[in-house]
This record gives sequence, structure tokens and C-alpha cells, in this order.
Amino acid sequence: MSVNILGIESSCDETSAAIIRDTKILANIIAGQEVHRNYGGVVPELASRAHQQNIIPVIDQALKHAKIQKNQLHAVAFTRGPGLLGSLLVGTSFAKAFAMGTGIPIIEVNHLKAHILAHFIDDEMHTVPAFPFLCLTVSGGHTQIVRVDDPHTFAIIGETIDDAAGEAFDKAAKIMGLPYPGGPLIDKLAREGDAAAFDLSKPKIPGYDYSFSGLKTSFLYLVRDELKKDAGFIEKRKADLAASMQRVIVEVLLEKLGRAAHDTGIGEIALAGGVAANSGLREALVKEGAGQGWKVHIPKMAYTTDNAAMIAVAGYFKYLKKDFASQDVVPYTRGII
Ligand code: KG4
Ligand code: ZN
Repeated sequence: MSVNILGIESSCDETSAAIIRDTKILANIIAGQEVHRNYGGVVPELASRAHQQNIIPVIDQALKHAKIQKNQLHAVAFTRGPGLLGSLLVGTSFAKAFAMGTGIPIIEVNHLKAHILAHFIDDEMHTVPAFPFLCLTVSGGHTQIVRVDDPHTFAIIGETIDDAAGEAFDKAAKIMGLPYPGGPLIDKLAREGDAAAFDLSKPKIPGYDYSFSGLKTSFLYLVRDELKKDAGFIEKRKADLAASMQRVIVEVLLEKLGRAAHDTGIGEIALAGGVAANSGLREALVKEGAGQGWKVHIPKMAYTTDNAAMIAVAGYFKYLKKDFASQDVVPYTRGII
């Protein structure tokens, strides 16, 4: 028997609802939040208000798009954490009420595991990793190398000790006066720039862990010093600045990933999270993989940044184990995978 699952994502600044039949996507509706653009980052209070406004329309659209009636759903999966509390509460409370009204079970999903399990969305556009695999999860809030042994067994073998890779992109963009989120803008500018134009200091952290705060400071000082000499520096060199910053972030990410792959002997490598949309990272990983003999798995763009399809697919794996949550489940804001 096939299983129809409604997935709900509201951890940060996208309100999303998806419907899957087993691992096949029937609908994946995402409402972004323009309201944060001029603040240089997500404003939590504004995010929860926007989720509150968006949640009913996105669920409604997902049901219509999937041509599914509420009574054909078998479970509702929602992001329990990590994320912003006010934002998570909107999705969590909606999922509980919806499940109570329709008499179906609720499934709580970890946002980071869902980013990884997005690889199992049934879509002929990409390949599915074989277990065990290493996943480089890079988003606005997290940067991790995760060993995945099956859809329920995850082990973090390296992670950032300060900023996430997405934050490094966003902060560099902010220093250049670009709006939030800056990652996609840096990506676009970098295509026109010289990646070797500027030297930026790389972190020296032992093991498989990452650090991006020193790199951000190095970028800030470079821009500050050059602006003293020429007020038009950013405008004249923005493509070179973006390309140089992107090159260093990508080099740092791949260095540790390469070390982890070498030491664990795992050659199945996957990429996940919002920064997985970065064209420089995608290209560099494919190139590195070809050189190292890895099997590289890169998700379709639509499943890299926050979306409910990944929540629904993660929920599907838990549904198979009848791993349901109770009505007293509450969100968590921080980390654990
Ligand atoms: O996974 P995600 O949508 O949300 C979190 O869970 O954080 O990731 C958002 C992050 C932001 O920092 C954004 O700037 C970054 O992903 N991002 C990119 C690109 N697209 C999104 N960074 C670099 N290049 C991109 N093309
Ligand atoms: Zn995310």
C-alpha cells in the first residue's frame, strides 16, 4: 500500500508544505519571506508572523496541487528543530492540530537529517547515495560532515566551531553592502570575477572541524583597508571579492571532507543544505570526486535550500518504522542530530 505524507517546514524563513506518495513528490510549495531582505539576516519575530500568515495558504496549495483530499493522508511530518523557536512553533502547532482534526499520526523530523535524506526523494534527475556515505551538510545555520549508515543512523564526524559556511557567504555579502541572503548573490558575482585576486587567511583547525569566523574577519579587514585608499573599491572589485571569498570557502570545505573520506575509506559522498546550491562548490566537488574516485551525489537545486519535500521524505522513513510523536511534543532550537 502506498503512503501519502504531508510535510511541513517552518524552521527559519521559508514556510513550506509538501505531499509525497512514498518517496515521490506530488507537491512542494515554498513561500519565502521578503521581509528580511533589508535587515542583513532573518528577524525571528518577523519570521514567525510571516509563517503564521503563510501556513494555511501553502498547505491548501499543496493539497490542491497534489490532487489529494485530507482524508487520503496517512501522516503529517513536521520540522521539530533545530531552528527559530517562534517559527518552529507555527509548524509544530499546525501539525498537531491538523493531525488531531484528521485522526492521523504526527511524525517529528530533525531539519538537518531531512536535508541529508532529501537525496532519497524519487526524482530521476539525481543519483541516490549508497550506505554508508558521508554527507557535507552546509547551510545558513550548520556546517557538518555526517556519516550516514542508514536512514536512521547518523554520526557527526566534523562540524563548525563558530560560523556556518552559509553565514560566511551572507556576512561577506553584507560587508559588500548586498542584501540578505547574500549567498546566491556572491555565487552570481563570482562567475564574473577572478578567484585568485585576493588572498584571505584560511582557518587552521585540527581534525575534521571547521571555522569560518577568522575568514570573515580577514575579508572585513581587506575591504576596510582598501576602502581607505579608494572609496569606490567595493563597486570596482565586487566580482573579484566574491570570487575570492567563494574560492576560499569551497577550498576549506573540500579539504576537511577529503580528509574524512580518506580516513574513513568511504567514497560515497553527498552534498546537502542551502549552500549546496552554490555553483562553485558543486563544480569543485564533482572535480575533486573525479580525481579521488568518489561517487558524488548532488541534490536537485529545489531540494537544497529549505523545503518541505525533504521533511516529508524523512517522515516517510519514520512512518515505515511507526515512529510517531505524541501530542505533547515541543520544538527544540539547537543542534543534536
Ligand atoms: O538550508 P538553508 O536554506 O537554510 C538553513 O537551514 O540555514 O540555507 C540557507 C543558506 C543561506 O546562508 C544562503 O545564503 C545560502 O544557504 N545559499 C547559498 C546559495 N544559495 C543559498 N550560498 C552560496 N551560494 C548559493 N548559491
Ligand atoms: Zn536548512
